[in-house]
Amino acid sequence: MRYLKSIVCGLSLLAAVSCGNGGKQACSEGACGHETAECAAGECTAGECVKDCGENAVIENIMSRRSIRKYKNKPVVRDVMQDIAMCGINAPNGQNKQSWEVRIVDNPEFQNEIKAVMAAAGGERAAGCFYNAPVWVFIARDNGYDFSTIDCGLLAENMMLSAHSLGVGSVCLGSPVRFILTSPERDKVLSGLGFSDGYELCLCIAFGYPDETPAAKPRDINKVRFID
Ligand SMILES: Cc1cc2nc3c(=O)[nH]c(=O)nc-3n(C[C@H](O)[C@H](O)[C@H](O)COP(=O)(O)O)c2cc1C
Repeated sequence: MRYLKSIVCGLSLLAAVSCGNGGKQACSEGACGHETAECAAGECTAGECVKDCGENAVIENIMSRRSIRKYKNKPVVRDVMQDIAMCGINAPNGQNKQSWEVRIVDNPEFQNEIKAVMAAAGGERAAGCFYNAPVWVFIARDNGYDFSTIDCGLLAENMMLSAHSLGVGSVCLGSPVRFILTSPERDKVLSGLGFSDGYELCLCIAFGYPDETPAAKPRDINKVRFID
């Protein structure tokens, strides 16, 4: 919780000092808007528009997070994972149903069992789909609630962003879900994870200390339009 307190304090402080003029100053002036000529002309990606706005820690955190696929051989202690999970379950969610369940697996023995189960479905590629990360997170959705997949996605993003703010890298993973659910030995993993009845595995996340600094992949700003 130590980390959570620092996050909250940091954010309150930043809320007080940033975006002083409604976010309308140019980035080159060191403010938090993104009104450069290049942005206005659509000549740079959304990432480039926002990335100089370093005064806003939340934006900086969002824009600098990248999927990490190479991890240091260093554990992430449970206190830190607990704080990350707390951030996850504080995500917005439909009717506050909290239509998720989260399992954090940091035990190498169980991870090896899971690897073997995935390999039975997809071979070597499946076995490596957690990229040797020290912590594997499994998220299940309440299959009786139509928005539960969205709830789980929001929870996952909160976990990944809070992790990034603490120096912990992550990658959101769909492939292990497929490998586990299509494996003839799927029940070994599912019984070990112990999700409640009515919950189904829908997403995984690998966490660990990054051993790479990947560049941002391009984003298509044309996916976003203002409608007059
Ligand atoms: C639902 C979902 C499933 C994903 N599945 C995988 C996966 O199985 N393996 C993988 O390496 N990355 C996976 N990713 C990560 C994406 O490839 C990555 O987020 C995307 O390329 C953008 O890169 P960035 O996260 O660095 O911005 C997944 C992401 C999401 C949101």
